[in-house]
Amino acid sequence: MSALQKMMGWVDDRFPLTATYKAHLSEYYAPKNFNFWYFFGSLALLVLVLQIVTGIFLTMNYKPDAELAFMSVEYIMRDVEWGWLIRYMHSTGASMFFVVVYLHMFRGLMYGSYRKPRELIWIFGVLIYLMLMAEAFLGYLLPWGQMSYWGAQVIVNLFAAVPFIGEDLSILIRGDYVISDATLNRFFAFHVIALPLVLIALVAVHLVALHEVGSNNPDGIEIKKHKDPVTHIPLDGIPFHPYYTVKDIVGVIVFLMVFSAIMFFAPEMGGYFLEAANFVPADSLKTPEHIAPLWYFTPFYAILRAVPPLFGSQFPGVVAMGMSIVLLFFLPWLDRSKVKSIRYRGPIYKIALALFIVSFVGLGYLGLLPSTPVATIFAQVFSVIYFLFFLLMPWYTSIDKTKPEPERVTG
Ligand code: HEM
Repeated sequence: MSALQKMMGWVDDRFPLTATYKAHLSEYYAPKNFNFWYFFGSLALLVLVLQIVTGIFLTMNYKPDAELAFMSVEYIMRDVEWGWLIRYMHSTGASMFFVVVYLHMFRGLMYGSYRKPRELIWIFGVLIYLMLMAEAFLGYLLPWGQMSYWGAQVIVNLFAAVPFIGEDLSILIRGDYVISDATLNRFFAFHVIALPLVLIALVAVHLVALHEVGSNNPDGIEIKKHKDPVTHIPLDGIPFHPYYTVKDIVGVIVFLMVFSAIMFFAPEMGGYFLEAANFVPADSLKTPEHIAPLWYFTPFYAILRAVPPLFGSQFPGVVAMGMSIVLLFFLPWLDRSKVKSIRYRGPIYKIALALFIVSFVGLGYLGLLPSTPVATIFAQVFSVIYFLFFLLMPWYTSIDKTKPEPERVTG
């Protein structure tokens, strides 16, 4: 027995190291037919780590103080060694996080990954998505630019629209009557420690739930139904390590190439990743002409604006915006189709999903624009389609003509 084996034996007697490695990597069997869409889970993990590491380094020079915050970011960009790189990694990472997560969620919609027995993986996923939105919103106040300030002002004021408790609620969030130094301090605390902890915990339970039931795949059939009679290994499964660890590295390399291209050549991404107004320090006396959130929030912002106020209150819009996300939680129970994957679904679901994506992207586009009567009508039509996708799902998925699923995975 080599010294290394002896040492491993010593550890294994005290901690399940080899057992964990086997259970989750070398003897964890994943379907052999994963495609392009299965890269995004591991990429989301990569970006999570990237955000945490770059965030730690930014915190070393950032000052959470309304008098100093804006200048400390400029200092990081100009004077701190490699500070510009760290900051651009973090700002590009924020947007790329949403790119990756949106593609990851779209994969779930295509292959019915939220369906039994993966409902909890999906629910933890939606909670992650909510946390991610909160994390991005809080982080955006920190550079203390014009858009940080006024964006936060608009969003926190939405809470004031809640009947009865609204005013108090918005003061509780701000810690003041307007966005101020107190707000910056608490947003900083939540952004750098509270929410990242929750996010990491949610990702951990997301993966525990995933490994409990095993991954879905592009055919939407369960590989555990066909096991080798002797070894009990799924016949259509391959060990995660080395097969998917190596495959995921390919995804990581391509992703990092795209990431670097953006970071080095277009870190502002034409105003979509970093807005021009945020290069101007926050001024509580000067409202920017056009306040728009970053692109990943605009679909929901468009839904908010599409709903007309009731007796001068924005509350109905706030409810619609909240419901547009809450509905995601119910997806596993709204879908009544006999099959999971889009490959074997009938035309109705395919059309419904296409309309949903067009509406979501359309809302995202409209949310970037100043509101005009024509844009509002489009936003209303898209919002109705968005909601009908969920609300009519029990009906259209049960009447849709599906194709028979194969017994074993294909391709
Ligand atoms: C920080 C964000 C996230 C991380 C790090 C993450 C990580 C992962 C990983 C590593 C996998 C396995 C690999 C894969 O199937 O691609 C996975 C699967 C999955 N994730 Fe996520 N995820 C995140 C967010 C989300 C969100 C927002 C949702 C949905 C709302 C979601 C829903 C799912 C589902 C349903 C699966 C199983 C997919 C299948 O087996 O077909 N995840 N996730």
